[in-house]
Amino acid sequence: MSTITRKEDDAVIQGQARFFDNLYSGISGAALRCALELNIAGIIKGHDGPITLSQIAQGISSPTLNVEGLSRLMRLLVLKQIFDEVHQPEREEPLYALNQCSKYLVQDTRDTLAPIARFFTDPLNFSPFYNLNLSIKEGGTAALKTYGVEVWDLFSHNPQANKSFNDSMASLTRINMDAVMSSYDFGSLEGTLLDVGGGVGVAISEIVNTYPHLKGINFDMPHVISSAPSYEGVTHVGGDMFTTIPRADSFMIKELMPLSNPHFSFAATSTTLLLGAFLGE
Ligand SMILES: C[S@@+](CC[C@H](N)C(=O)[O-])C[C@H]1O[C@@H](n2cnc3c(N)ncnc32)[C@H](O)[C@@H]1O
Repeated sequence: MSTITRKEDDAVIQGQARFFDNLYSGISGAALRCALELNIAGIIKGHDGPITLSQIAQGISSPTLNVEGLSRLMRLLVLKQIFDEVHQPEREEPLYALNQCSKYLVQDTRDTLAPIARFFTDPLNFSPFYNLNLSIKEGGTAALKTYGVEVWDLFSHNPQANKSFNDSMASLTRINMDAVMSSYDFGSLEGTLLDVGGGVGVAISEIVNTYPHLKGINFDMPHVISSAPSYEGVTHVGGDMFTTIPRADSFMIKELMPLSNPHFSFAATSTTLLLGAFLGE
């Protein structure tokens, strides 16, 4: 008979907990998307403080609303700490409130992360993850396995997906920019600063807006540049960074991993800033 020590027992339980946490993690993303589609954060924000389930239900305003389903959804969202549940002594039913997570689901605010939540949970973006095994076994990206084209080609032929992706990156960048600006003194740069793969130009426009002595160049693929708004002090240039990049005094790369490509290099004399989350090579 084998003897299981308390320590081994804990390790088994923790292993199972991690297994199921990871297995069910997709459900949290789906619940977050569901909250976004039903505008639950917007409904709560529209009131002065925490609100009841029936007030959320009224805000959704559907004649065939599945109230039991909504109640279960709110329990899951509270369990995942996406929304807060508030209990007031004089009331029996719980109230629901925004917290530091769900405030980002409120749409049409400067700090909204609704666009990235919408894009990331979109089946168009998510389907390739189900083909990761093919990508690893056979080579080629998961997007190529799923759609027969690379993800950037897919966006270049699908204006809706292009917009959805560009909006998602812009929303992420907007909330990151305070940290980016405080992590480096962009004011010490001179001349032109070029953002490689700069999306629709949110980052470079904020930098140039703060340091107007800099001239900004926002460089990205033509289909991205064609939907970029104009900003004072920023020139948009479309192209392929693996072919040629316009000249500039300094370069920045944010949330992009081109360095593994041997064709990609900058003039040794320029300042190059890498910003964002990079996976180690
Ligand atoms: C993850 S997004 C980052 C966007 C932006 N830097 C930001 O932080 O919001 C990567 C960007 O790289 C651009 N990109 C990808 N391949 C490129 C290429 N070969 N040449 C130019 N831009 C490219 C994409 O179009 C996209 O806008």
